[in-house]
Amino acid sequence: MNIAANPVVEADQTVYLKDYQKPTFLVESINLDIQVFADHTNVNSTLVMKRQTQGDLVLLGRDLELKSIQLNGEQLSNSQYVLDSEQLVIKNAPDHAIIETSVVIHPETNTQLEGLYLAGGDLFVTQNEPEGFRKITFYPDRPDVLAEFTTRVEADKKFPVLLANGNLLEKGEAGEGRHYAIWQDPTKKPSYLFACVIGDLAVLKGSYVTSEGRNVALEIYAEEKDIPKCHIAMEALKHSMRWDEEHYGRPYDLDNYMIVATSQFNMGAMENKGLNIFNTSCVLADEEFTTDAAIMRVQSVIAHEYFHNWTGNRITCRDWFQLCLKEGLTVFRDQSFSEDLQSAAVQRIDDVAVLKAHQFPEDSGPLSHPPRPDHFVEINNFYTATVYEKGAEINRMMATLLGKEKFRAGTDEYFKRHDGQAVTVEDWVAALTAGSGVDLSAFLTWYNQPGTPKLEAKGEYDALNQTYRLSFKQSLKPHPKYPNLKAVPIPVALALFNAETGEQYTLHSDALVENNVKDGVYLFDQLEASIELTGVTSQPVVSLLRNFSAPVNLVFNYTDEQLAFLMRYETNGFNQWQATQTLLERILLNGHDASIYIQAMKKTVPDVVEKDPLLASRLFDVPTEGYLGSRIDVEYNPDQIKQQRNALLDTLARELGSFCKETYLALDPAIQKDFSQAMGVRAIKNIMLSLIARQGDTDAFDFAYQQYQTTHNMSERLGALRVLVWNDAPQAKQALTDFYARFKDEPLSLDQWFMVQAAHPNATAQTIEALTQHPDYDLGTPNRIRSVSGGLSNNPANTWSFGVQHYIGLAKYLDEKNPILGSRLLQVLSRWYTLAEPQRSQVKNELEALKPLVKSKNVSETLNSMLSV
Ligand code: BES
Ligand code: ZN
Repeated sequence: MNIAANPVVEADQTVYLKDYQKPTFLVESINLDIQVFADHTNVNSTLVMKRQTQGDLVLLGRDLELKSIQLNGEQLSNSQYVLDSEQLVIKNAPDHAIIETSVVIHPETNTQLEGLYLAGGDLFVTQNEPEGFRKITFYPDRPDVLAEFTTRVEADKKFPVLLANGNLLEKGEAGEGRHYAIWQDPTKKPSYLFACVIGDLAVLKGSYVTSEGRNVALEIYAEEKDIPKCHIAMEALKHSMRWDEEHYGRPYDLDNYMIVATSQFNMGAMENKGLNIFNTSCVLADEEFTTDAAIMRVQSVIAHEYFHNWTGNRITCRDWFQLCLKEGLTVFRDQSFSEDLQSAAVQRIDDVAVLKAHQFPEDSGPLSHPPRPDHFVEINNFYTATVYEKGAEINRMMATLLGKEKFRAGTDEYFKRHDGQAVTVEDWVAALTAGSGVDLSAFLTWYNQPGTPKLEAKGEYDALNQTYRLSFKQSLKPHPKYPNLKAVPIPVALALFNAETGEQYTLHSDALVENNVKDGVYLFDQLEASIELTGVTSQPVVSLLRNFSAPVNLVFNYTDEQLAFLMRYETNGFNQWQATQTLLERILLNGHDASIYIQAMKKTVPDVVEKDPLLASRLFDVPTEGYLGSRIDVEYNPDQIKQQRNALLDTLARELGSFCKETYLALDPAIQKDFSQAMGVRAIKNIMLSLIARQGDTDAFDFAYQQYQTTHNMSERLGALRVLVWNDAPQAKQALTDFYARFKDEPLSLDQWFMVQAAHPNATAQTIEALTQHPDYDLGTPNRIRSVSGGLSNNPANTWSFGVQHYIGLAKYLDEKNPILGSRLLQVLSRWYTLAEPQRSQVKNELEALKPLVKSKNVSETLNSMLSV
């Protein structure tokens, strides 16, 4: 890797963590007056500011038309401040400064979905994290400036709903068919948590009484026809509120909590204080219109944004380098919450699958960065799998090591110390350390350096002494930008099984304490070390990193038989799954024989299907082509991977014989005891259906068509549709036509219709062209764009051929219209350099050709990094 090709431009715009300085002025309060008109919006603000350190008074502002500015009641002339496209600077400001500004903005033409924007016909919403507030008014728009907000919103009465953070103080007539509302938020907050909503929406109401006896009004705002789809979110919200009280001792702190759904949103959802704004895809949930996976996602996103109220809002980030402080912790919290909603093992499997499919590849390529980066050009580019998912893993490791009680003591200390503050990752680790009495400072290394550590382990059995010696070694691939990589603390959860009986050994405790092993977890924090386990009466099989206790690449020289053994006997559901994945990776990437895997599946699966259909459905996971590709660093050939994976699936289908059909016909989701069980049965049935189709059994299409037509459940309908479409069944066209007719007015369902077709294994450039030319395709709606480009990326063989044009075209088109999204979509191509020639050079040339055409910091930073390999 070498330095980015255009160092001059880069150096100019790069922000460094080491340059952090306190803001010169704090804001005690802000009074905002937002008047929305059809063709413009007036924003008047009054900031009460107070000097904190020496220096200029700096207000950030972007795309604002400044009408007037006053300082302590005096109009300022142009010579009294310096204004450029990013900021307004007042030199020699007095220590107490009341700044009043009037600006005009244009939410009605804002396509970037950042700041205040028109989100479809009759809804205006805001998105201010991380740096959107500066597009609403001049302000020290940084997270370490916390102020009390009072907001007046005024608009035409055709927008009956006027919302902002906090409590409603007043509302009334504003003349000329207009009205207003005044909201006041009693909690000090950074500007990125400001929100307001102006629109015509219906509302679902609920209520919740906190552990402190506070009665909270809960409101979910959505389009009238979608209100019936808001009940699952409402229940999830109440559940989250209870969960945070029970697990972290954190009650809610305001009298109301509002959620607003919009179909025009770049991300999933946003935790604005007391007024969350959600992508419809993360709030609307209904078995008829959305899939089981989407329903689970809604619940976890509701929890995530709610949990931010304490981890993010009450205690926020000092600067954006600390993003993983709030996101990593909150993801860890929402993952733990979700582990209580369904089988904990399956939740862990799904979370680790995401980590391995996105974070591991990110961390091994040109976009690799530490969970807490030390520099960036565009902070929006750092809402990454590394910040989120690896960030969550770091917290999980510390929680695993501490155990429940000490971890709670640590988080209690964090809330006690830092409530109301903007803090750093160091503050978090120090509070955990102080509260728990366990020194966790070594974990800071995890935050500060990039890369996935390789953990090599070896086991040696000594029959004479009945001991088992485990030696460990850790290493990181050298990184050009981070020359001093250090050893990290790695909690290794482990168990030994008797190879003959399949029973788990009870490990002798004295020896364990000596060896630094507590509750089955060994803390490996050196470059090399070994431990000795005693009382091991016969040759064991060891299971390492149970529950994925650390985000590392484990290398252990298991035999295939030992992996098959773990598939059968490991009682930790996660490691049972991991054993199948490791075995499959060997088959698919290293040419191992599939028969051991097939035999193990035959022996293991029938039992699991009966006892835990959801876990069984995951045991059928075969690493995706994308994941397999990400394990290859040179001469990657997507077509070859596709063929190998298909061959394996054909073998599996053939070998399972009649089991698939019998299971498919025997299971009935309608008679399960709860949602999670029914979801498992639906998942297994869909897998069986696809395997029957692979067997070439034409009954499969009749089953699928039947399932398609008779169900009222989206997971079943979509599972059937997928089998028909992807196998080009005779009924495919008819089913697609029917699906479109049924759901043409349901955007989230229609997204699935686009997705299924875009994800067809044999989709062509024409398939994608037809979808993007469809009247319902819309370049202004991120969800719709993602349904096609996300579907396409399901098939790397397609992505890396005609898909390249698609992604580059989108990046070019979105560069100015929606650079946040453009930059994200381009990242699909970030592993171009691993391709075998001639594809590698072809893609490289196309990326190079894009370079002079892009203007946004977002897309150009991503493109420069991608090309810097
Ligand atoms: N704070 C983010 C949302 C955000 C960040 C929106 C930056 C826009 C720009 C929010 O809490 C979040 O993390 N949302 C995730 C979902 C979550 C479950 C991980 C998202 O939107 O994908
Ligand atoms: Zn978040």
